[in-house]
Amino acid sequence: MSDPRPIGVFDSGIGGLTVVKAVRDLLPNEKIFYLGDTARVPYGGKSATTVQRYSLEMTEMLLGEDVKAIVIACNSASAVALPDLKKTLSVPVIGVILPGAKSAAAMTRNRRIGVIGTLATIKSGAYERAIHSLDSKIDIVARPCPLLVPLIEEGWLDDELTDRVIARYLGPMVREEIDTLVLGCTHYPLLADVIARFLKEKVKLVDSARNCATALQDLLDRQSFRAPAGSSGGLQVALTDAPDHFLRVAREALQLEIGEVQLREVLHPARAL
Ligand code: DGL
Repeated sequence: MSDPRPIGVFDSGIGGLTVVKAVRDLLPNEKIFYLGDTARVPYGGKSATTVQRYSLEMTEMLLGEDVKAIVIACNSASAVALPDLKKTLSVPVIGVILPGAKSAAAMTRNRRIGVIGTLATIKSGAYERAIHSLDSKIDIVARPCPLLVPLIEEGWLDDELTDRVIARYLGPMVREEIDTLVLGCTHYPLLADVIARFLKEKVKLVDSARNCATALQDLLDRQSFRAPAGSSGGLQVALTDAPDHFLRVAREALQLEIGEVQLREVLHPARAL
């Protein structure tokens, strides 16, 4: 059996395109409908209740596009909204946390894992729970890195200031002898090379975007939801507000073909107040 419907992917903004890139590379036959909530980005500093409400609205909009599965390409939203969405949605939904946690737990040798992400993600403790559900003896050093998202959106991917911020955030984690670091924010793969340069060979990186794409492949296979063989995949991008220059930064860094970007108004604006 196969299913030609698109896969719905949502993020607080543009950062989730790192997940789209990984999905396009792994599943080129699939159609993707990407929805970025640029009207309300960032989610990372907002309360769990607000992020849950926004996430519900994004998934309702994706269901309106007749998607066959939903990927939450945002760590902050995955961290606080996935459990409820899993219970209520009529299509399968996956996030980025468990795939990243599985990969980290498999990679660590000394059972000391670092996790970086937004305030919302780190405060939620979602990575700790996911990693400890796999191996309760792993020590986790988690740290919010709120300055990284603005630096990435500014396009300062190869910049001395960004290097210094990374050193300031990650230096203490390295001293705590982590051997694996989870990039727990979908913006961070854009800084993977710079972070790897700082960590040298000592710490392995877990890119939750790539792991999420593999988890999606497993899900589609399990449910016989893959696109028909030979169908040509594609990417449609819709945003809840006009794109800013970060779209250009991401498009160039990821080498992603993005056609015309559509604008979609957030449903239920009254509930968003
Ligand atoms: N995409 C978000 C995440 O992965 C980061 C940006 C935001 O704060 O909304 O957590």
